[in-house]
Amino acid sequence: MPRKLAAGNWKMNGGSAELSEIAALALAHPAPGCDVLICPPATLISRMAEAARGSAIAVGGQDCHGAVSGAHTGDVSAPMLLDAGASHVILGHSERRQDHGETDATVRIKTTTAVTEGLIAVVCIGETLGEREAGQTLDVIGTQMDGSLPDSTTAATIVVAYEPVWAIGTGLTPTLDQIAEVHDFMRARLAARFGADMADGIRLLYGGSVKPSNAAEIFAVPNVDGALVGGASLKADDFGQIIAALD
Ligand code: G3P
Repeated sequence: MPRKLAAGNWKMNGGSAELSEIAALALAHPAPGCDVLICPPATLISRMAEAARGSAIAVGGQDCHGAVSGAHTGDVSAPMLLDAGASHVILGHSERRQDHGETDATVRIKTTTAVTEGLIAVVCIGETLGEREAGQTLDVIGTQMDGSLPDSTTAATIVVAYEPVWAIGTGLTPTLDQIAEVHDFMRARLAARFGADMADGIRLLYGGSVKPSNAAEIFAVPNVDGALVGGASLKADDFGQIIAALD
């Protein structure tokens, strides 16, 4: 089984002052029993990578372009993330799908580029509330997985994060049975496409209103290999408790 992963997505939050949270996290968790990843805004990647050097904390981006360089004003490429000290990149987050019109096809191109260039891609998928209420959750998840993941990859370079759109930043979470249903489905879908051995090695994260008070019960759900945490990753103390729940 792969090591569990506690991943933090700072989204469009954080400046120089918040770098002290990383130092506090590194100090409090010198040798965590799980992998730890923080994805700050692009402006902080380089300094955070410096602050996290020598610690168990990996640093990632929140997006990258599908091309490695060129005339794409305002974008960041996979080689640039690597150059800044990142080892991971979040791709296909629902906020990017909503705010920037990213489709499964776009995400697949970005994911392919990211893993080819040497990053670990954390690919996000998840249904809206309307889709859940219409009984379409597994269809949506299956379609997003098929469309967003590259054909040729390895278990170590892909992480899939199930983030129900309606659970993000709302304080709402699916029931544990609902999380189990989706994660079992995801594992089976990966096995059908890549074979059981590779599917077992791909980490499946849950994301959406994970906090210290619900982390342990979510991590006890079969096929949940960690979490992608938004708001609760901004404070070393809160995120530290989530890391401890995975230890
Ligand atoms: O990528 C993490 C995310 O979207 C969940 O955010 O604030 O509900 O933990 P939050």
